Amino acid sequence: MENILFFDADKELRDFAATHPIKGANFVFFDTGLNAVSLKALEPYRDTRIISGFIHSETLSTEKLDFFPNLQLIATRSTGFNHIDLDYCRQRGIAVENVPAYGAATVAEFAFGLLLALARKIIRAKNDMAHNRIENSNYMGFDLMGKTIGIIGTGSIGRHMIQIAQGFGMKVLAYDPFRNPVLKDLYVDDLDTIYRESDIISLHVPSTPENYHMINEAAFDKMKKGVIIINTARGDLIDTQALYFALRKGIVAGAGVDVLENEDFLLHDEVATSPRMSDNDFLLDSAMNLKLLQFRNVIATPHIAFNSIDAINRINATTIDNIQNFMAGKITNNVIK
Ligand code: NAI
Repeated sequence: MENILFFDADKELRDFAATHPIKGANFVFFDTGLNAVSLKALEPYRDTRIISGFIHSETLSTEKLDFFPNLQLIATRSTGFNHIDLDYCRQRGIAVENVPAYGAATVAEFAFGLLLALARKIIRAKNDMAHNRIENSNYMGFDLMGKTIGIIGTGSIGRHMIQIAQGFGMKVLAYDPFRNPVLKDLYVDDLDTIYRESDIISLHVPSTPENYHMINEAAFDKMKKGVIIINTARGDLIDTQALYFALRKGIVAGAGVDVLENEDFLLHDEVATSPRMSDNDFLLDSAMNLKLLQFRNVIATPHIAFNSIDAINRINATTIDNIQNFMAGKITNNVIK
């Protein structure tokens, strides 16, 4: 029997794996990510060929990967793979396989949920109601019908977001250097038009070196005063300090963010005692994130837009397929080109 190591293994994964065994495979589950597992705990599994993990904005430790001399496959249970050092994997001949599509509608629905919650102050009203301090004048929101939403990135998630927005009677402006012919009437020529004309801006682009801090102080200065920003894509698309000051100045009237730059400090306890705490940029972002949470008009969620049972089942099914195929000598959903 060959050991397959699953990191960040939750109940849904364990349940799914129990009902979807792979012939010749023995599934081993770890509660945390690989980075947090001690070498001592990994020792019995040194000859492992196949590991599977979940996404963290922290890069998968190459020191830990070095520990497995026979490693051949990292099956990430995510679409994104910027937490994996692809150059390192290429050099070692390790295949990296992902889950290319599992929840475009799932993420778009969540993004729209953030927007609705901000537009109608649902969370504030809910909290006030629970604490018996209702003040109706605090809950006046605005309609979405007739408002202009700027969608940046019209890939799988952006497209769903557009459909939902159109269902709400919103005017949609879209920007993407690669135009989808189906959406051709919606595109504007540049981001400045999105910034200038949108009441709401929602980000659906990947985190790449080019897109790093694409929403910065200069971008905020071009936006309509009172714009709502929705980010369910990646935290580092937005300069966190710039967002903070845009909220302070009232340029941004509300932000719904499922992702934050260097969000790991807020999301994972083990990070607080890791060497990352001596990285100044990491500390600065972590501190700014805490300040963002202090705004009433910021709704921050812990990177959960993908997290519906339907999407999780699709993720687990594709990952088990990827592993099964690999064991049968077939590479599927390879991200190393
Ligand atoms: P996709 O690859 O289908 O589409 C991305 C689109 O962005 C592409 O059409 C690309 O041409 C466009 N793009 C790239 N740079 C751009 C720029 N500077 N301006 C405008 N368009 C640009 O990606 P998908 O699946 O729609 O995912 C979008 C984002 O959502 C990704 O960042 C992904 O990591 C994130 N995501 C977040 C999840 C969460 O739980 N919060 C879950 C799944 C994905």
